[in-house]
Amino acid sequence: MDKMRIRGGKALHGTVQASGSKNAALPILISSLLAETPCRFRRVPNLMDVRTTFKLLEHMGVVVKNDLGKNEVELDASKVTSQEAPYDLVRTMRASVVVLGPLLARFGRAKVSLPGGCAIGARPINFHLTGLEKLGAEIELDQGYVIAKAKRLRGARVAFEFPSVGATENVMMAAVLAEGESILENCAQEPEIVDLARALRAMGAEISGEGSATIHIQGKKSLQGCDYSVIGDRIEAGTFLAAAFATRGSVRVEGLDSEFLESVLVKFEDAGAEIRRFSDAIELVSKGRPRGTDITTLPFPGFPTDMQAQFMAVMAVADGASVVTETVFENRFMHVPELVRLGADISIHGKSAMIRGQEKLLGAPLMATDLRASASLIIGALCAEGETVVNRIYHLDRGYERMEEKLRALGADIERIS
Ligand code: EPZ
Repeated sequence: MDKMRIRGGKALHGTVQASGSKNAALPILISSLLAETPCRFRRVPNLMDVRTTFKLLEHMGVVVKNDLGKNEVELDASKVTSQEAPYDLVRTMRASVVVLGPLLARFGRAKVSLPGGCAIGARPINFHLTGLEKLGAEIELDQGYVIAKAKRLRGARVAFEFPSVGATENVMMAAVLAEGESILENCAQEPEIVDLARALRAMGAEISGEGSATIHIQGKKSLQGCDYSVIGDRIEAGTFLAAAFATRGSVRVEGLDSEFLESVLVKFEDAGAEIRRFSDAIELVSKGRPRGTDITTLPFPGFPTDMQAQFMAVMAVADGASVVTETVFENRFMHVPELVRLGADISIHGKSAMIRGQEKLLGAPLMATDLRASASLIIGALCAEGETVVNRIYHLDRGYERMEEKLRALGADIERIS
């Protein structure tokens, strides 16, 4: 199992390119199931979850021309032979569950393993299933699988109980081939939702309102392949900016609109960093030690839950106290005991963690538990004195492309030990 060895205490400086967004790429790759002719996708990050998605699509009969060396792929779903997403694939990547919508919409049936929980929470899919039933799907659960059928989906009004990213994606991809108009309300507004809508429009879908709470979709008879480039990864970008701030350096991340991270940038400024915003880049310049400031995670445009662990690592070395409140997932503080091993002073009180910033942290052996917790431990290690070894970094590889290479280019003393 790979580990990461880091010798901390060096400020990060330089420019780094954001990879394509994992959380935009995964649903966009899956949307190829809707198209009668081949899709070409560009700026697809070379990640474990992307390769898992290729396996899942191949299992269904999609022809995958994997060109991930150039961050590209061609997917031909003209001859899908199976509408089943098996447990062994879904359990490794719960985002697979968004195959339900496209399979139902194009083939009228789907058999998808229930994803089960993960480290950060139970992660049910009730909002997905309720939304698809509103469009006319008959859904039953049998031996750990969702069995869904529909002669032809019909457009409907779907109001989400919570602005769930996955549920919004699933229902969007069902509605684009349903008969008639659908109005989706209380939708997720993340940039990744907007990117999926743009990709669907490139396939011929009639869709508007994406990025707001209400999305209008006029169903079509069929969709065709497209040539589409994915947006930059705002969480990867935010992770590098957090690492720069924690180590009191200055870093420029290129390849994404600063609008995607505004709620995080404002918090970096509250904590004393200087931020420069561009339509295709973000710069963070440290002005000394970060100052303690509070955050509460919320659906977009609020502070993203996927940046909570990384921001906490910055607060661990801040001047003063801070409170971090996690409202989106029920168990997303797995990084806390590991940061405490570095000497952080953090105590958990229900949905909130209280952090008392330390002048310095000291390196120690650590264990990664989930994707963003791993990133938080890397940031902690980068600003800790001495050596840190982070174990189980396969979690990191799910969402970060060549992270150690990119960090080394910014001056970090980091190496992967296989
Ligand atoms: C997506 O997960 C992201 N994953 C997550 O990123 C991200 O943390 C999350 O959105 C929130 O922004 C991908 O895009 C692949 P949700 P998703 O449905 O769609 C509850 C990462 O690190 N819920 O918005 O699963 C759910 O349990 C990953 O890249 C229900 O109760 O998130 C959670 O508490 C981690 N019933 C909350 O809603 C449902 O039917 C938000 O979940 C669906 C969700």
